[in-house]
Amino acid sequence: MLRVFTSALLLGLLTQVVLCQDTNLREVKQAFDDANIPEDIDLPFDPMFLLEVSFPQTLGPAIVLKAGVQLPRNATVGPPLFAISGYGIRDGPFVIATVDPDAPTPQNPTNAQIRHFLGGNFEPSRRSPGRAVLTNTTAAISDWRQPTPPAGSDAHRYIFLVFNQPQGFNDQTLVNATTPVALFNISAFGEAVGLGSPIAGTFMLVAPDPA
Ligand SMILES: *[C@@H]1O[C@H](CO)[C@@H](O)[C@H](O)[C@H]1NC(C)=O
Ligand SMILES: *[C@@H]1O[C@H](CO)[C@@H](O)[C@H](O)[C@H]1NC(C)=O
Ligand SMILES: *[C@@H]1O[C@H](CO)[C@@H](O)[C@H](O)[C@H]1NC(C)=O
Ligand SMILES: *[C@@H]1O[C@H](CO)[C@@H](O)[C@H](O)[C@H]1NC(C)=O
Repeated sequence: MLRVFTSALLLGLLTQVVLCQDTNLREVKQAFDDANIPEDIDLPFDPMFLLEVSFPQTLGPAIVLKAGVQLPRNATVGPPLFAISGYGIRDGPFVIATVDPDAPTPQNPTNAQIRHFLGGNFEPSRRSPGRAVLTNTTAAISDWRQPTPPAGSDAHRYIFLVFNQPQGFNDQTLVNATTPVALFNISAFGEAVGLGSPIAGTFMLVAPDPA
């Protein structure tokens, strides 16, 4: 009995370590709903694909996000790498955006959203059955910014979203590299440029550095 329990526990632990990434669309959607994300960013979230966001580490393997995981800030230097998986991955290009709706604090997000990344022209590459790495073929509009939640704040949500890239996206003039990153609104931006609903996404939590 004890041995069965122990091996079940071990298997559980191993599974957690090996599968520390999103593997189930329903779970990702549930995690978004549980964290109130669709409401807070004014976007429906019914993903068609799983999004893999991985953060390279100086020591050891990259960390792949599982929706809702909390990472230490120093693991989020990035820039992150992206892949999508699922059935019927279509051709690109795709737009990827990352926003923080919790700045400066989740209780009083008066600067939100902070735009932590915005880039177009991601194309599926290194395709294998059911999975494709997403590789940018142009520079990002807004380069990756590492999370910097202010001291004293609760952890912030950092939300990664993939959209089908609309025609003419490369000609948009609403956001460029010098546009302030605060008071961004991914829903309003998406409406203006025709992003539609996200087709994949995930998110992480990052708290301020320990004092
Ligand atoms: C992050 O900081 C923790 C302690 O605060 C340390 O143990 C860990 O090695 C650091 N990780 C990286 C990637 O620097
Ligand atoms: C893709 O993005 C990376 C990181 O933002 C950047 O260094 C690189 O130049 C981009 N690739 C192209 C082809 O622009
Ligand atoms: C960048 O966008 C801002 C608006 O956010 C605009 O005022 C500025 O002219 C743009 N700069 C360039 C180089 O297009
Ligand atoms: C963001 O834009 C949407 C329109 O797409 C709007 O409904 C919402 O109120 C805006 N959010 C904020 C915080 O201004």
